[in-house]
Amino acid sequence: MENPPSERVAFQDLQPHGGEAFGRAVLGGLALPHKALPAKFFYDQRGSALFEQICQLPEYYPTRTEMGILARCLPEMIPLLGERCVLIEYGSGNSEKTRLLLQSVRPLAYLPVDISHEQLRDACASLHRDYPWLTIEALCADYTGAFELPGWALDVELRRSIFFPGSTIGNFTPEEAVPFLERAARLVGRGGVMLVGVDLKKDARILNLAYDDPAGVTAAFNLNVLERINRELEGDFDCRTFRHRAFYNEALGRVEMHLVSTRAQVVHVMGVSFRFEEGESIHTENSYKYTATEFQALADRAGFDSQAVWTDEARRFSVHCLVSR
Ligand code: TRP
Repeated sequence: MENPPSERVAFQDLQPHGGEAFGRAVLGGLALPHKALPAKFFYDQRGSALFEQICQLPEYYPTRTEMGILARCLPEMIPLLGERCVLIEYGSGNSEKTRLLLQSVRPLAYLPVDISHEQLRDACASLHRDYPWLTIEALCADYTGAFELPGWALDVELRRSIFFPGSTIGNFTPEEAVPFLERAARLVGRGGVMLVGVDLKKDARILNLAYDDPAGVTAAFNLNVLERINRELEGDFDCRTFRHRAFYNEALGRVEMHLVSTRAQVVHVMGVSFRFEEGESIHTENSYKYTATEFQALADRAGFDSQAVWTDEARRFSVHCLVSR
């Protein structure tokens, strides 16, 4: 077996935004009959900082609620993660939620995977300070695509568990979520675990406020993707002529996020022009909401059995323990 790195902290940059990935996605998305941009491009340095602010908003209940569930149900979760655990986290961000697990799970290694280079570096440094015993092997990568774990992490003697909090699974459509979960099930292998946070269906008023806060932080986060296009792709978006729009689409069970052009205009990106009608929108994100049973059925289609599900008292959010079969 290849050994885990002897250095406590290793950092591998798979350059998730290398080449023309961002440019290609933007040109492709803006050329669609209903303009759209993939949500993963929200998380540049500024976007990641704004998202941390969203997580602290009083209206944005998911972060707080999920942390509460993790803290309260930890004693039941630990045995499910098992001994000789390699803890892989998708979209680790600032790794704040992971901190709740580390001390009691004591994984052999922690493999955070995140698309945001600076945030991943900062998180590793601060985890290393606070958990000097922990072996960290960070991967700056886009986990929605193909990426490889270091060889030693695939050893059959180890138990791989994926931690995927934040209801990020809801940012895929159900049709996208199934193949994504299938890949996760294969990666952890038979008997391997996925601990996944899933936001629950609820009153539209609560959801609308959570994704359109009065302080305008979510609006700034959404609009930042246009500023990023201006910065990185020679774009000339006038951000004052686009407004953030978020609403719960109850029929489809999802919150939709859009950027709406407040006037007819032409915008250029990398020398290509795109026409906007007044009121035309760019669809920037979906956040699907599931009942516990709906999500279990989805996971089942991907090859996961449901081992346990925990919720908060107000039934706002759920954490599922899935086992790969
Ligand atoms: N995974 C988060 C969610 O669906 C992402 C998110 C929260 C988000 N607020 C947002 C994405 C606002 C875009 C805009 O809740």
